[in-house]
Amino acid sequence: MVRRILLLGGLTVLLSRQSVHAQNKTQNALYMDMDKSIRDRVDDLLGRMTVEEKAGQLNQINGGIFTGPALNDDGQKAKIQMVTAGKVGSMLNVIGIKDTKEIQKAAVEKSRLGIPLLFGYDVIHGYKTIFPIPLAEACSWDLTQIEKNAKVAASEASAAGIHWAFAPMCDISNDPRWGRVMEGIGEDPYYGALVSAARVKGLQGNLSKTNVLACVKHFAAYGTVESGREYNFTDVSRFLLWNKYLPPYKAAVDAGAVTVMNGFTTLDGIPVSANKFLATDVLKKKWGFEGFLVSDWNSFGEMVNWGYATDKKDAVEKAFNAGSMMDMETRGMVEYVPELVKEGKISMEELDRAVGRILAVKFKLGLFDDPYKYCDENREKTDIFTPSNRSEVLKAAEGSIILLKNDNNTLPLVSGKKVALVGALASSHQDMFDFWVAQGNVQDAVTLKEAFDHEYGNGYYFAEGYSLDGKENGNLVNDAIKAANKSDVVVVNVGISGNMAGEDRSLANPVIPENQIRLLKTLKSTGKPVIMVVTAGRPLILTEALPHVDAIVYGWILGTETGTAILHVLNGSHNPSAKTVMSFPYAVGQIPVYYNHFNTGRPDPTDGAGNWYSRYRDIPCEPLFPFGFGLSYTHFSYSNMAIDTETLKVGQILKVAIDVKNDGDRDGEEVVQLYIHDLAASVIRPVKELKRFQKVFLKKGTSKTLTFELDDDALSFFNSNGDKVLESGKFDVFVGGNSRDVLSKSFELK
Ligand code: NOJ
Repeated sequence: MVRRILLLGGLTVLLSRQSVHAQNKTQNALYMDMDKSIRDRVDDLLGRMTVEEKAGQLNQINGGIFTGPALNDDGQKAKIQMVTAGKVGSMLNVIGIKDTKEIQKAAVEKSRLGIPLLFGYDVIHGYKTIFPIPLAEACSWDLTQIEKNAKVAASEASAAGIHWAFAPMCDISNDPRWGRVMEGIGEDPYYGALVSAARVKGLQGNLSKTNVLACVKHFAAYGTVESGREYNFTDVSRFLLWNKYLPPYKAAVDAGAVTVMNGFTTLDGIPVSANKFLATDVLKKKWGFEGFLVSDWNSFGEMVNWGYATDKKDAVEKAFNAGSMMDMETRGMVEYVPELVKEGKISMEELDRAVGRILAVKFKLGLFDDPYKYCDENREKTDIFTPSNRSEVLKAAEGSIILLKNDNNTLPLVSGKKVALVGALASSHQDMFDFWVAQGNVQDAVTLKEAFDHEYGNGYYFAEGYSLDGKENGNLVNDAIKAANKSDVVVVNVGISGNMAGEDRSLANPVIPENQIRLLKTLKSTGKPVIMVVTAGRPLILTEALPHVDAIVYGWILGTETGTAILHVLNGSHNPSAKTVMSFPYAVGQIPVYYNHFNTGRPDPTDGAGNWYSRYRDIPCEPLFPFGFGLSYTHFSYSNMAIDTETLKVGQILKVAIDVKNDGDRDGEEVVQLYIHDLAASVIRPVKELKRFQKVFLKKGTSKTLTFELDDDALSFFNSNGDKVLESGKFDVFVGGNSRDVLSKSFELK
């Protein structure tokens, strides 16, 4: 940056600090003056732009490679021409300094106004050093680590020229059939809001060059796709929208998220990309969101298939006028906005407002002053896939693993005992990763078998046990039996392929495949204790496997350090403390099943059989493992729950105390959870709602009194206008180590 100096008859006048990147054509333009406010710079720039250039800023296209042989590719050449003509505001999927620099140069040096591009990418849980899937990471209940994970992901992505991560996904979901639950926050709005905010803070930090913009997605309620089928119809009442689905997006916006993405789904019969209620009334007006809204990939175009728009032009008009701004890959804004302005269907004022928001973000990021701010070749060499990033991944992975069952203290493994490791998944690099792994390299990921090799050398037995294609294979089973017979204990890694976790990965049957279940039964019949390690990107239905195994370790999809993290849990060098953030269904027919359900008019009666009530005749109503559940190698007991008053006044804080004792024989961490139930209100309330939690470390034999505070906000809920209401009446308050096993007290709010 240079401060230009003018000498006037001995008088030195400081003119302005112009970006060194100002070209001849843009020199002296106010918008290149770093001393002016962003508002003034945006206004100045808008005043210079043609309507076509404005429409160009609303256009985000898929980039790809712009160096080497790609330069001769006609498709890539056409994209460069669009950039130099000022017809592109942002690109996705351009990565690495070489390529981002090359195409940024075209935008800054060759387009008329030199407006820099924004580079976005799906950095969902890491760039090259791959963290556990977000759902797993959420099970750690460790917000500090979650924020750190996002920070590491941002630092690697930004070192590769990326400005903007399409994360976090803040979609609450109750449906493990939906493949994208892996990307989310689970089923609880309170906890989901905290996780979403932590992720935004980690990604964006103070928007320095080691941070990236966050993108809150998919606004809103994508996680409710009907029957768990990807891209399917969605609809949610205002009651559920405000109380259950919107809080995580809102928390992410409040945490400062600069961008929001809409999605492929619908609300009130209107695709969310053209839904004025969501984009304008809620996001902009009610929440005061000042950043910009981007569509999902061709979600404007898809409105034609939904039957909401007659053609692309109609879709653009509807999306824009509803409040949508940037268009990901439909290329409709750039094509039709100028025409729609001419026809008076889109106002220039609104266009300026939308474009102004996008430009403001580019100014805020400092791209006008230094468009190559993120093009630091040194950082690209030194800041990606570093040992310290890997060690954060290992911590995150260990913290994500849930111990679901541990009969007779089968775990941790006792040293000196002979172990068999069985399972094709245990040696499959590919399956350490899911579908969303940015630039992660599968060969860099440590498999469970590699971790065993490292730990035991030749001192353990390995067998694949089953084939990943699901076909029965007697030889594989026989090898597994032999390995089991030679061992004292068998660790069996079952589950589903990592590639089945992510977008367009819906499964009607989220279960452990049949051939693997048969293998478990066979191994159990050897008489050896069987430890089941499940790797999958969603909660699988474990009901059939449960009786045939002595212990269950839920290993999700953990990324780069998968094997090491799981081994550390198996051998006890890490004492598990993770807890479920999605209920594990008992059967497919139970889905959706979630802890914060409603009581019904006919709950399970306590006065004996004979009543007709809300139930299944073939299975229980309860999930197999409830929300908030997870075991430890030690044991925690809860006692002396107390509240400081049974009659609470509005404005007063309720104090809830509980003694938690580590009465097992190891040090450990426990996630202590507090729930409430509002017994009667102007709208029905869930049977339990998480309102507070604390993750505490307790040395063996020690105990601690924990105190929680509940204020008016915690006791209130949203009305159908999205305003918080507090109503007097009776409440129950519960504390425990999961959402089912709790102590309780009652009070009245007067
Ligand atoms: C579609 C996905 O729904 C969205 O989450 C993602 O960010 C975009 N594609 C870009 O890849």
